[in-house]
Amino acid sequence: MIIALTGTPGTGKTTIASILKKYGVSVISLKKLAEQHSFVESYDEQRQSNILDLDAIEQYLKKTIKKDELIIVESHLAHLLCVVDFVIVLRCHPQTLRKRLEQRNWPWKKIYENLESEILDVILCESVNDHGKQSVKEIDTSTVSAENIAENIFQIINGSKTFSTLLEPGNFDWSEYLFDANIMEQ
Ligand SMILES: Nc1ncnc2c1ncn2[C@@H]1O[C@H](COP(=O)(O)OP(=O)(O)OP(=O)(O)O)[C@@H](O)[C@H]1O
Ligand SMILES: [Mg+2]
Repeated sequence: MIIALTGTPGTGKTTIASILKKYGVSVISLKKLAEQHSFVESYDEQRQSNILDLDAIEQYLKKTIKKDELIIVESHLAHLLCVVDFVIVLRCHPQTLRKRLEQRNWPWKKIYENLESEILDVILCESVNDHGKQSVKEIDTSTVSAENIAENIFQIINGSKTFSTLLEPGNFDWSEYLFDANIMEQ
């Protein structure tokens, strides 16, 4: 089974995935995988980020992951892979997300685009569109610690909890912040 751990940049995918690794869970970071196997197609100058060859990544995962294996694939693109069986979308309140992204030294345009994407539920919508509502859950990272979230996901993986204990898609509505000057203006 392949679980996508996705979400807008800064929602905490890498942080939570690294705690899961300590529990012994197999985690693949698409960013690292792409760099190791030359699955980087090109570089987007404007967004200052690599464009990954998702078809090649898909083929690689199909070939290397056995049916009975449980793997977490972490990336803001993980939900775009057809090979994924279940999607966990990490969410973050825009005010908290802004604080996290401001620590990255990113240009304001890049921070703004990501805040907008989080507010408009872009990754959640893509996930539900591609995999169906029944295969998607949301977790808020602005009110629950990374340790607690990782523990929750681990309990699902080891069978002591079910996916249904996580939030159904549609729990968060941050649309009121789209034109909030404190959050959306530099
Ligand atoms: N509950 C939480 N869960 C996850 N991260 C949290 C939480 N609370 C605070 N953080 C902080 O938020 C930041 C999240 O950064 P992280 O690099 O994990 O995000 P990411 O989703 O992997 O981003 P990217 O898509 O750019 O790789 C970290 O600094 C982390 O310490
Ligand atoms: Mg990351």
